[in-house]
Amino acid sequence: MLAPGSGSEQRTRLALRWRQVSWITCWIALCAVEALPTCPFSCKCDTRSLEVDCSGLGLTVVPPDVPAATRTLLLLNNKLSALPSWAFANLSSLQRLDLSNNFLDQLPRSIFEDLTNLTELQLRNNSIRTLDRDLLQHSPLLRHLDLSINGLAQLPPGLFDGLPALRSLSLRSNRLQNLDRLTFEPLASLQLLQVGDNPWECDCNLRDFKHWMEWFSYRANAGGRLDQLACTLPKELRGKDMRMVPMEMFNYCSQLEGENSSAGLDSPGPPCTKASPEPAKPKPGAEPEPESSTACPQKQRYRPVSVRRAIGTVIIAGVVCGIVCIMMVVAAAYGCIYASLMAKYHRELKKRQPLMGDPEGEHEDQKQISSVA
Ligand SMILES: *[C@@H]1O[C@H](CO)[C@@H](O)[C@H](O)[C@H]1NC(C)=O
Ligand SMILES: *[C@@H]1O[C@H](CO)[C@@H](O)[C@H](O)[C@H]1NC(C)=O
Ligand SMILES: *[C@@H]1O[C@H](CO)[C@@H](O)[C@H](O)[C@H]1NC(C)=O
Ligand SMILES: *[C@@H]1O[C@H](CO)[C@@H](O)[C@H](O)[C@H]1NC(C)=O
Repeated sequence: MLAPGSGSEQRTRLALRWRQVSWITCWIALCAVEALPTCPFSCKCDTRSLEVDCSGLGLTVVPPDVPAATRTLLLLNNKLSALPSWAFANLSSLQRLDLSNNFLDQLPRSIFEDLTNLTELQLRNNSIRTLDRDLLQHSPLLRHLDLSINGLAQLPPGLFDGLPALRSLSLRSNRLQNLDRLTFEPLASLQLLQVGDNPWECDCNLRDFKHWMEWFSYRANAGGRLDQLACTLPKELRGKDMRMVPMEMFNYCSQLEGENSSAGLDSPGPPCTKASPEPAKPKPGAEPEPESSTACPQKQRYRPVSVRRAIGTVIIAGVVCGIVCIMMVVAAAYGCIYASLMAKYHRELKKRQPLMGDPEGEHEDQKQISSVA
């Protein structure tokens, strides 16, 4: 009976070992699951490239359980509109963030604060109208920034101050009318700038940016690439690239500044063009222009003010002259009439004197005295 007993003992030992092995495998499996980053619901996660793809899911909020180690987070083609400032908190490993084709309108100033390793930020095709100047101050490694197809009407000064590594920037299809050169000066590494499809106003406000663009295009190290900056206003420059507009056409700007410091200016007019012929001066003498204008009417914006002033002066002078003339004519006419009447009276008096007595003569003397007085 020994053999069967030892057999059963062996069987229980085997079962024990099996149980141990299964426990171990189970534990290993659990550990493996825990080691893998959890993937947010219905997103696709690539554990090798650390990419989390949550695009096209109709999301209205950023999934709260995005693994902290994520390097790429794709949230394009969703319905994100207002994001809380902690939407991307703790994602300091994130390098690429794509928020294109959403309905974002305002971004809290600290929303990207933790994204210190961000190199690419896509905000294309949203409804962003304003940006906080500190929005990108914590992502010094940013190399690509796409803000195209939004509603930006201006960029806050200092927006790009913390972005010395930025290589490409797109501002296409916004509502920008002018740009400040100082905003772009910190972008020392910029190579590609897209500014097309904006309602550019090619006037004095854009002159300094034109300078910057010229410097950017011909920069010594690597010539920067820039798409079209086609003017929308003024009418004379519509469709023309700002870089092709000769700098001389903006000479009036400095005169404008001089004029501005002395006297207030009213609404700014369009700059001059070669297309528009120089209007003939209505009153050359009344124009207080120091130098003769060149081929381009450089002071078109300056001229209407002085013309208006000159016309005013002429009208006032004319009115004063007219009044004085009328008074003189009236006085002369009165004098003539009086003189002729007096002469006639004297003649009649001389004729009658022998007939009339002295009293009449006395009376005549009194009359003369009163008239002199
Ligand atoms: C970020 O990390 C800190 C500390 O690790 C933690 O207290 C905080 O809850 C985290 N925030 C989010 C939104 O995960
Ligand atoms: C961010 O980048 C720096 C330098 O490249 C690196 O040392 C650091 O570990 C990165 N941070 C994270 C959280 O990956
Ligand atoms: C912009 O996004 C909207 C909705 O997200 C989409 O319908 C539209 O086609 C997008 N436009 C472009 C030019 O990508
Ligand atoms: C001209 O004056 C206006 C206000 O009177 C001011 O806003 C503007 O910046 C001035 N422009 C220049 C070029 O000095």
